[in-house]
Amino acid sequence: MRTVYVNGEYMPETQATVSIFDRGFLMADGVYEVTSVLDGKLIDFDGHAARLERSMIELDMPALPITMAELLEVHRELVRRNDLSDGMIYLQVTRGAPGDRDFVFPDPEETAPTMVLFTQSKPGLADSATGRNGIKVISIDDLRWGRRDIKTVQLLYPSMGKMMALAAGADDAWMVEDGHVTEGTSNNAYIVKDGRIITRQLSTDILHGITRAAVLRFAREAQMEVEERAFTIDEAKQADEAFITSASAFVTPVIDLDGTPIGTGQPGPVAPRLREIYLEEVRKAAI
Ligand code: PDD
Repeated sequence: MRTVYVNGEYMPETQATVSIFDRGFLMADGVYEVTSVLDGKLIDFDGHAARLERSMIELDMPALPITMAELLEVHRELVRRNDLSDGMIYLQVTRGAPGDRDFVFPDPEETAPTMVLFTQSKPGLADSATGRNGIKVISIDDLRWGRRDIKTVQLLYPSMGKMMALAAGADDAWMVEDGHVTEGTSNNAYIVKDGRIITRQLSTDILHGITRAAVLRFAREAQMEVEERAFTIDEAKQADEAFITSASAFVTPVIDLDGTPIGTGQPGPVAPRLREIYLEEVRKAAI
């Protein structure tokens, strides 16, 4: 049984509870982060911690009751107590439980945020079949709200997108708005054409992926050309390669889009190379 963290306390998962009045539950008024763990060490913790703070500020949520150094310790303690080697740590902070349902934000002096963290064990996370062989994606309309740069727990549409993909015999969906790909349901989207890596520029239209930032930095350091701009589904179908990035998928090749094989229909060479560089560098920097 897992040991989880709820508002300052470690406890068995079966004893962990949150109020029915919690605004995360009633209003999706909460934000989250997913941090990967490889060999018992945290990948890119600082990036996830910084984005968490930014998400909370953007939503006028009161500051966390603990410092970022303490938050790091909570992550490490959960790794220790759960003997986690490879997997993820999920963290969620909501605006708390004011004791009734109301659209108006509660007074932060009276209602403290709810913070929960738990581990997800995924042995062999960095050596997955999808990482090696790639995934198939379909395209769907992007029906999400307009502040996708904030990592809120409003994941119903991304969840529906994943179900549409599974129903179509694919693994995931790329979302399209005004004729251009925004991102994957839970990852950033890329194509490769003539050696150039193309991915949508940062804005409120997409989540500013922590993995994205690292991968683009490593790509530029390796003298690869990067173009940050929106691309269409047609352009993606004619690309040489495609891939996604996220904290849990790292760099994963995309080999098929809406039933059209991309490039040779096999991964490579750019995406597997980036995956290798990414994993090597983040393992070195893991804490
Ligand atoms: N998803 N875009 C969206 C919509 C996401 O939900 C995510 C992350 C990303 C990639 O961000 P990062 O590289 O910081 O993980 C992009 C997480 C992993 C999830 O929901 O499980």
